[in-house]
Order: sequence, then structure tokens, then C-alpha cells
Amino acid sequence: MASQPSPAAAVEAVEGAAHSAAQSSSSFLDRVTSWYQDNKVVAWTIAGVTVVVAGGTIYYLSSSPKQPSDSDKKPKKRKAKKDAPKTADEPKAEPKAAPKSAVVDDPEELPEVTEESVKSLSEQERKDYAAKLKAAGNKAYGSKDYNRAIDLYTQAILCKADPVFYSNRAACWNAMSNWPKVIEDTTAAINLDSEYVKALNRRANAYEQEGRYSEALLDYTASCIIDQFRNESSAQAVERLLKKVAETKAKKIMEGKEKRLPSPTFVSNYLQSFRAKPLPEGLEETADLPEGSGKWHVRKGLLAIKQRTGEGYTEAAESFDKAIEQGGLEKHEALAYNMRGTFRYLKGDNDTALEDLNKAIELDPTLVQSYVKRASMHLEQSNREAAAQDFELASQHNASDPDVYYHRAQLHFILSEFSNAATDYQKSMDLDKDFIFSHIQLGVTQYKMGSIASSMATFRRCIKNFGDKSDVYNYYGELLLDQQKYQEAVEKFETAVEMEKKGVGERGGGMNVLPLINKALALFQWKQDFSAAEELCQKALIIDPECDIAVATMAQLLLQQGKVTEALTYFERAAELSRTEGEIVNALSYAEATRTQLEVQEKYPQLAAKLQGMSAGMAPAMR
Ligand SMILES: *[C@@H]1O[C@H](CO)[C@@H](O)[C@H](O)[C@H]1NC(C)=O
Ligand SMILES: *[C@@H]1O[C@H](CO)[C@@H](O)[C@H](O)[C@H]1NC(C)=O
Ligand SMILES: *[C@@H]1O[C@H](CO)[C@@H](O)[C@H](O)[C@H]1NC(C)=O
Repeated sequence: MASQPSPAAAVEAVEGAAHSAAQSSSSFLDRVTSWYQDNKVVAWTIAGVTVVVAGGTIYYLSSSPKQPSDSDKKPKKRKAKKDAPKTADEPKAEPKAAPKSAVVDDPEELPEVTEESVKSLSEQERKDYAAKLKAAGNKAYGSKDYNRAIDLYTQAILCKADPVFYSNRAACWNAMSNWPKVIEDTTAAINLDSEYVKALNRRANAYEQEGRYSEALLDYTASCIIDQFRNESSAQAVERLLKKVAETKAKKIMEGKEKRLPSPTFVSNYLQSFRAKPLPEGLEETADLPEGSGKWHVRKGLLAIKQRTGEGYTEAAESFDKAIEQGGLEKHEALAYNMRGTFRYLKGDNDTALEDLNKAIELDPTLVQSYVKRASMHLEQSNREAAAQDFELASQHNASDPDVYYHRAQLHFILSEFSNAATDYQKSMDLDKDFIFSHIQLGVTQYKMGSIASSMATFRRCIKNFGDKSDVYNYYGELLLDQQKYQEAVEKFETAVEMEKKGVGERGGGMNVLPLINKALALFQWKQDFSAAEELCQKALIIDPECDIAVATMAQLLLQQGKVTEALTYFERAAELSRTEGEIVNALSYAEATRTQLEVQEKYPQLAAKLQGMSAGMAPAMR
């Protein structure tokens, strides 16, 4: 796990036990994701094999250590032959000391070719002239006389349409930063030789200079595949452009995004990270409140939350909006602003959410939950100082509110300050031993600190004390899965699923689908049982169609099986469902990598075969 969490990761962790546990321990997707990030790699899937490329070496995704590619050892027959002369033909910058006279060697020998004159030349003459003109062009290029070089290459092209001449002329345009011309000439070269790596790289650079990132990405990708990922700078370019493309698209998505609530699983996990409180005095169910009044709406919203369903959360969000519209809230005004801000935050409307929280704090500085929520907003913007300051203010106003310590622990946790986190979880437990997530998170933290035995003991104690709560089994299962205790992990997830079902029966809805997804991951890791894993993810998606974790997991499972087109659909859906820009960028990076790969396959069918051959020679296939 990265020690510097991204804002997205930060949010996941702070948003409640469920999210942080899913993030911190064994979730397959998270592990893969962080592995990608840590290793700066790009993943490709062709024909059922996922190939991960890092630093020029190809690895299988599922195999942990490096798998050096066979092809690194084998001499490459066709390529070697083809590239060698090309490389030699490329113009080289010559030392400045090169005598000027050498540039235009015998001018009498250098033919002058025009569109007209070339017609009268024989085949052999054209060939000879082309070679001479190109050689002179290379010399002119070497002495940085680019206009002269362009003229010579142009004449050479009249004699013979050779991809190298176009590519060399492109090198001149490149030196003059004339990107449209570079694109034109490299395109001509590539049309003549679709596997011309140098031309592809040159065109990619020009596209990038012109801000045409998708096209640059496609070219660098093709060049990497042709080159079998040996050129590190091209591989880095792929990664850089993936990020650029994803960021550009994410900005557009954010601009046009309608503000709506994320999946019920997400909302539940956020809200349950605050201890449930009874309805406040004056808003009890028995209190006689005029229908449609502000207070009546506050109560309606608080009750709607308890349903834990998408409809309930939508109703709650509307109720808090109306409550503030109606007014007349008296001492409940701070709570109303706090809750409206909470739902605005969940919808991703962070600016107005922050205003609401500020207002809530102004109205009632003793409502410490407002500081805690504001801290999580600061954290989402990677503003750790402001977050820490809010926890400080919160503990000043009420040093005995366990929520404060629980959430401060979450902050420590995502900063990998595990021993501080453990202290704060313990503090929260001392103040309220009935809040289950402090116990669970303490167990997860102990695990992260390497105290596996203490962690397992904490979880066994949790089962004793909270044996009827699905969350305990879900997170215990995740840690077991991380230790590759598959059988036990699956049992725990199954228990969690059963308990969720029971809870749904009692509440009338609102099932947490994380145990289903975790079971899918466990079956996948344990038995490579794709169909069972997919089925479980589909089940989760029927229950909570907007669950981003289920969608992303599904995408990964499909990618693992080489179902690239289907995987792309899911990655795009994951981007749609993401709440923050960081999350959208992450999902889109996968989507773009997948899409680019599909495009390369379509545009260069021979390369798909090449990558397949390459993977086949590498390591025992993951099946
Ligand atoms: C590697 O690729 C870069 C462009 O990405 C190119 O400039 C460089 O010449 C290549 N190196 C080799 C050894 O082919
Ligand atoms: C809200 O989010 C946007 C986009 O992520 C960001 O630019 C802005 O600074 C955020 N505002 C606050 C108050 O955090
Ligand atoms: C502090 O928080 C605790 C727990 O929520 C609560 O019981 C207590 O009344 C609060 N104290 C003040 C002064 O608000």
C-alpha cells in the first residue's frame, strides 16, 4: 500500500470502516491498483492473458515475481533485419567540427530532381539518385541545415517513396518544431511501413506537442508492442499520456456531472462511521410537529436515513433541503445544516457542503460532528493540516466524544501512522465500547503493524461481542484472505452475507454488498473461478447497481479473462459512478488503457498476434 495516499484513497479510508478496511486489506482490486501505482506499470490483456509491463519487462499480473521475457533472450529475426539498415539510415547529428565541405560533397555528383525531370529517369537511376539525395540530406541534417535537408529529402522522395525519407524529413520538421508537418510526414512513413517504430515515436511526440493525447497514446502503445516494451522512455510515455488523457476526460466529466448521491452501499458506509444517535429531544417520533414544517422535515430526513436504501437517502437529502427552506428550526438549525452539508458532500458538491458545515459550526460549536465531517472534506482535498485542526477543535469542545477519536484514528491510519491510529481507536473504544467499527479498525491497524496474532485476537473478541453484525465477519474475512486462508475467508464472507440478508429482512432493504464482492475475490484468488466470481459480482450489482466497487471488480475480472470490450464498458461505468475527480481519473486510466489496446488491435491486427506470441513465450499462463 502506498504510504502517501492519494486524495481518493484518503477518502475511502476516512469514509468509514467498510471503505477503509476494503482499501487496507485484501481487496484484490485495491491490491492490483496499488501494485500498478507503485510499480508504474501498464497492463495489457490479449487473448486471455494479462500482461503487465514495468520498466521494459513483462510480468504476468497474477505471478508475483518478475518473469523475464523469453523474447529478451531470443534474437529477433525479422525485426533485426528490418531495423538495422533503418537505424543506419537515420540522420545523425554530426559533431560540429565536421568540415563544412563534407556537407555537400561533390555538388556535380548531386542530382537535381524535379517532379518533371524524375519522369524521364530509369528505375535504376531513380534508385541511385534517391540514395545520393538521402545521404546528402542526412549530412545537411547533421549540420543543422534543416531547410536544405528538407529539400534534399523531398527530391529523394520524388525518386522513391521510401518510409525512411519521409521519417527523416519529419525529423527536420521536428527540429523546427513544425508539428503538423511532422505528423504529415510520419503518417506517410507509417502508411508505407506500419511497424516503423521511430516514425511512430516521432509522430506520437508531435501529437503530444499538439495536445492530441489520445492519438499520441495510440502511437506510443503501438510502438511499445512492436518494440516488445524494451524502450523504457516509450513505456513511460504511455503511462504519462494515459494520465493526461484520463485527466482531460475527467475534467469534462466533472463539469457536466449532475450532482447525485453515490450508491447506497457507499452512503451507508459513510454514515455508519458516526455512531447512531436517537432522535434529538423535540424531534422524537411522538413529538407533535406540524406537517411540512422545518422541524417536521428534519425528523423525516433522519428517519429516512434509517431505511439504508437509495430511496431513503434521496428522501433524506430532499428533506434536509426543505427543512432549511422552511426554517423555524430553533435549536435544531445547526443539525439541519450539518445534515444538508453531509448529503451535499456525498453528492460531490463540496463547495456548498463546506459552507453548510461552516454554518453549522457557527450556529452550534458544541455539535462536534460538524468538525469531524468538515475534517473529512479537508482530507478529500488533501488538506491534512486543516483536517488535523478540525479534530483539535472538536476535542476542545467535547473531549469525551468517541466519534472524534475514531475519525482522528482514520486520519492517522491513512497517513500510515498506525501506532497513533491504534491509540485513538482504543480511546474511542474506552469512551464507547459498543461502537463496532473502532474494534474492527483496531484489528485492521494491528494487522497493518504486523501484529497478526493481536489482530486475530481482536477479531475473535469482536465475534464474541458483536457476533450478530455482518461487518465483523466481512473484515475478518478480508484479513484471512490476505493471509491466503481461503477456506476460512470464504466462510466468513458467507456468514456476513447471511447476516446482511437477515438485516434486510428486519429493515426492509439496504443490503451492504461488500461481503458478496469479497467472496467473489476470494473465489477468484483461491480457485481462479471466474464464473462464480462474476456471478457474485452480478448479484451485488442487482442489489446495488451503482456500487462502484462491484463495477470495478467486474471490470478487472473481465480483463483477466481477456474480455477486453466488456471490461471497457465496466471501466467506463466505474468512471461514471465515481464521486471525485481523483476516482474518475483512476477509473478512466484503466478505461483508456483498455480502449487504446482495442484500437491498436483493430488498427494493427498483426500486432495483436505479436503480443500474443510474446506472452506465450513468457511464463506458465495464468489459467
Ligand atoms: C525510445 O523511444 C524514444 C521515444 O519514446 C526515442 O526517442 C528513443 O530514440 C528510443 N530509443 C531507442 C533505443 O530506440
Ligand atoms: C471542490 O472540488 C473541486 C474539484 O475537485 C476543487 O477544485 C475545489 O477546490 C473544491 N472545493 C473545496 C472547498 O474543497
Ligand atoms: C460530549 O459527547 C458525549 C458523547 O457523544 C455526550 O454524551 C456529551 O453530552 C457531550 N458533552 C457535551 C458537553 O456536549
